[in-house]
Amino acid sequence: MQKLIVNGGKRLRGELKLQGCKNSSLPIMAGTILCGEECVLDNCPELTDIYSASRILNGLGCKCRFSDNRAVVNSADMNMTEIPEKLMREMRSSIIFMGAILGRTGECTVSMPGGCELGSRPIDMHISAMRKMGIDVKESYGKIICRAVSGKAHGAKISLPFPSVGATENIILCAVTADGETIINNSAREPEICDLCGFLRACGADIHGDGESRIVIKGKNKLHGCEYRIMPDRIAGATYLAMVASTGGEIILTDACVAEIEPFISVLEQTGCSISTYDDRIYLRSGSRLKAVRDRIRTMPHPGFPTDAQAVLMSALVNADGTSIFEENIFDCRYRHTSALIKMGADIQVLGKIAIVKGVPELHGANIEATDLRGGASMAVSALTAEGTSEISGISHIDRGYEKIENAVRLLGGDMQRV
Ligand code: EPU
Repeated sequence: MQKLIVNGGKRLRGELKLQGCKNSSLPIMAGTILCGEECVLDNCPELTDIYSASRILNGLGCKCRFSDNRAVVNSADMNMTEIPEKLMREMRSSIIFMGAILGRTGECTVSMPGGCELGSRPIDMHISAMRKMGIDVKESYGKIICRAVSGKAHGAKISLPFPSVGATENIILCAVTADGETIINNSAREPEICDLCGFLRACGADIHGDGESRIVIKGKNKLHGCEYRIMPDRIAGATYLAMVASTGGEIILTDACVAEIEPFISVLEQTGCSISTYDDRIYLRSGSRLKAVRDRIRTMPHPGFPTDAQAVLMSALVNADGTSIFEENIFDCRYRHTSALIKMGADIQVLGKIAIVKGVPELHGANIEATDLRGGASMAVSALTAEGTSEISGISHIDRGYEKIENAVRLLGGDMQRV
């Protein structure tokens, strides 16, 4: 089992190109199934979740290969419609393949997806939407068996009870080649949804309204292959900004999706950091000690403050001057990182969905274990701020979302080794 050894207390300083986005690459890779031709995806991050998606595609009979952040997927010879349980359990996004396989073949067999333990993560909205689109869904011995009643999915009017990112993606993937028109009300507005729609449009799909809460899709008989560049990863961007801010450093983040990171930047600015943006660059300079954030930090669907950036911001605030208050509204178990931060000397009280973070003068290094992706990243942020050495285990969680995190940190002058 690999670990990260971090010697904290160094100011991070330098220029970093932001990696490609995990959470749009995954549904886009699923979307390649609908084309039946070759798709070339540039700026695709090389992450363990992306390799899981590639194993799913290859298992279905598609051909997927990687080199230098470019994924080439040819789905012409796809000949399977079932994803084995072992592959389903590797990540949450395995469920997104359901909509794409149904869109291509009218049938598929999956099971409950895996992914970070962030509390219960049901798929009821996904299933109910598929049923509305004419799919018969049965559960049998842990398998979810789906079949289009008339051989092909049809369009439907779907109102989501909550703007679920995954359910919105699944509906879009199933709808782009379905018969007729699909309308999604209360759809998720996350930038990753727009990236997925941008890719599908490049393949010939007819989609309007992505980025808003009503998406309209007119089903097309056939899509075609394309070459597409994946957007930058706003959550990795927030993580590196939090890291640099908490060490009192300075960074130019290039190839950054400035507008998409804005909800995070507007909160980070309250800590006293000076942040400016120019084209696709973000420049951040941090003072010696951050100030606590005075407004309650409420995680919300986009364009609210992203739940995926809650843990990394908390790490930047544990040794700020004053008290910051978090309210986690998306997942019911997303404070698992706090026990590691407390072990490092943080003063955090968790009361249900609220976390009260009283800034302490300094953190000390400790042996800690990552328990989920963003929680693990927050431990990396705190380890870089702490005095002394930290050993972070469980880093397979971090590798699911950050491309060689230790190389990025070393490029900025931090001391982080993988052993
Ligand atoms: N939910 C249901 N029923 C459903 C679907 C969702 O109750 O059928 C609930 C969830 O349990 C959760 C809330 O709705 O409480 C939001 O879930 P959503 O479906 O929006 O999230 P997701 O699609 O499972 C994606 C990202 C997450 C990110 C969330 C919210 C991917 C692969 N994952 O998850 O990213 O936190 O949206 O923005 O895109 C991460 O990258 O670390 C990560 C967890």
